[in-house]
Amino acid sequence: MHLRSYLLIACLLAALLAAGTLGFQAPRAADQQAAEQTVTPQREPPTRPPTRPQGGPFGLSLMATPDGKPADALHFATSEDCSACHARHVEEFDGSLHSFSHHDPLYRAFAELARKEAGEQVYAYCSGCHAPAAVVSGLVPGTPEAELPDNVKAGVQCDICHQVRELNGAAGPWGEPGNGSLTLEPGKAKASIRPEIKSNLFHTARRADFLESSEFCASCHTVIHPFNGLRIEHTYDEWKKSVYAEKGIQCQDCHMRTVEDAVRVAQTLEPVTVMGKTSELSGTQREISPHTFVGGNIEAGRLTGSEAHGQMAEARLKSAAVIAVESVERAADGRELSFTVAVTNVGAGHSLPTSLTELREMWLHVRVSDPQGGLVFESGALDGHGELSKGTVRFGSVLHDAGGKPTFKPWEGVSFGKKRLIPAKGTERERFTAALAAAAPGALSIEARLCYRIAAPHVVKAVMGEQAFEPRIVEMASARASVP
Ligand code: HEC
Ligand code: HEC
Ligand code: HEC
Ligand code: HEC
Ligand code: HEC
Repeated sequence: MHLRSYLLIACLLAALLAAGTLGFQAPRAADQQAAEQTVTPQREPPTRPPTRPQGGPFGLSLMATPDGKPADALHFATSEDCSACHARHVEEFDGSLHSFSHHDPLYRAFAELARKEAGEQVYAYCSGCHAPAAVVSGLVPGTPEAELPDNVKAGVQCDICHQVRELNGAAGPWGEPGNGSLTLEPGKAKASIRPEIKSNLFHTARRADFLESSEFCASCHTVIHPFNGLRIEHTYDEWKKSVYAEKGIQCQDCHMRTVEDAVRVAQTLEPVTVMGKTSELSGTQREISPHTFVGGNIEAGRLTGSEAHGQMAEARLKSAAVIAVESVERAADGRELSFTVAVTNVGAGHSLPTSLTELREMWLHVRVSDPQGGLVFESGALDGHGELSKGTVRFGSVLHDAGGKPTFKPWEGVSFGKKRLIPAKGTERERFTAALAAAAPGALSIEARLCYRIAAPHVVKAVMGEQAFEPRIVEMASARASVP
């Protein structure tokens, strides 16, 4: 089995030190839409005081090599190179967001905007997690997109995770995993949980117990603003405080399992074991971990071309929450109806929503109708532009720039203006009051739905321009009640 060779690499490496301007730019167009929705403030996870920019040998990202020198870009194989012997893993993996973390069109548009507005160094920071091989090979910053070899653009590929030598977060500037805090040592030995593998012509293996830990995932799933220390994505911190961490349930126990198995894990708080062949050449079955890495990205079909990953994400979202209509009261004079909608996070090993909480939209759509089907109350409907209407109860966050204005650009973020997340196994309640003046006499029906989409249409438009798409809405959970 041979890796494809790339003749241009030597010349590209020469461009290694070409760097763009450092520093974030002054705040621009604010995202007013986000400001108008009702999002109740919640206490934020601790944020370190602003410090000077913090990074590693390759810039603002902590993605590193053992000696800090650029690694040979040829040493990052793609899933295609592993497929002859690990067909099952490759099939599960291809089409995941990991396999498209560089090519994902929404990411590409965001990253190019970051490059334009905040400079090449910030673009390299993004690439540290989205295309680690491009950074540790010294090609980014500096190499034009069109000249990057295909194998380093394969994103969070097999040979990223399986060539990690150690986690460097604890010893790094933030003292914890995050910002790509992984030291990669490319070569013949693949990082494995069971290094005593059958010999094969392609590779050997070395022990890497950390692969089984949430800290490993946190190395990229904790995003800390490298200039001001704001924790933009903090899924690991949410998990760490949860009952899942207490019971030893790791990220892998849900995200490297089928959705059905993950639901069992969430219900029983016990891991589920999957048996299968480690490779096509293995004679016996052993414990394996499905490599689908599905979260909530229901646009996978559009972004990565894998409808299967999109469908799994939809099933995962639908398994995450339940809602209920509680404490229904009709005022004595019959003019008002009030009720509470309770949303419980039953299935996610972290807050709901998690990670890109400023981008993702999760909200309540609540309707009260009279016996003739007339709508007497509605909250959370879309406006004429497909945006959440004023007063919508949204779970998520609003990122603020230095001027205190809402922004959807993570590089501009200095604080969270508002944040309302539902912790693992926790419940959030919201009280609604409907005026009944216009209602026909008789029983009323209440319908509450929990909805999700990966981003607001105006954000997708602002970032992607002509390539923009209309994000799909998925109903995660619903509840009904009838009021006599
Ligand atoms: C020529 C066939 C072949 C190719 C190509 C190949 N592998 Fe393997 N791999 C094997 C064999 C054989 C085993 C051992 C299976 C066993 O012991 O049952 C193995 C085991 C592994 C293990 C350790 C599994 C464990 O038990 O912990 C990892 C990790 C791994 N391979 C990763 C990769 C990656 C990543 C690639 C692509 C860059 C790759 N392999 C390409 C044949 C191959
Ligand atoms: C520390 C690692 C890390 C860094 C640095 C990073 N990201 Fe990400 N990014 C992630 C992870 C992890 C996700 C997946 C989160 C999720 O899906 O909820 C993600 C998801 C995204 C998405 C969503 C893609 C989609 O299809 O929904 C966008 C857009 C994005 N990142 C843009 C950027 C930009 C622009 C930068 C640089 C300014 C950046 N990221 C820097 C780790 C990182
Ligand atoms: C995001 C990181 C990540 C990527 C990308 C990744 N793996 Fe893995 N891989 C893991 C982890 C973590 C484990 C061990 C899981 C456990 O046992 O808890 C693992 C285990 C394995 C094993 C051992 C058997 C098993 O299923 O546990 C093989 C073989 C393997 N990976 C091959 C591959 C191949 C081939 C690719 C690319 C198609 C790939 N991996 C991509 C993280 C990754
Ligand atoms: C080298 C960095 C890196 C590592 C290590 C990593 N991830 Fe990711 N992960 C990313 C990036 C970047 C994305 C977002 C890609 C995109 O949307 O364009 C992502 C996306 C995901 C998603 C999809 C989210 C969605 O919206 O559907 C899941 C689930 C996920 N990762 C789980 C894991 C787990 C579990 C581990 C540990 C075994 C892990 N990741 C390790 C960088 C990483
Ligand atoms: C008990 C099972 C469970 C565990 C443990 C778990 N997750 Fe999740 N995760 C889910 C479910 C269910 C969803 C879908 C709902 C949602 O988006 O939060 C999800 C969604 C995600 C998403 C996508 C969020 C979005 O909307 O873009 C990311 C990223 C993610 N998880 C990363 C992690 C990481 C990192 C860990 C470990 C620190 C982890 N998960 C642990 C069940 C789990």
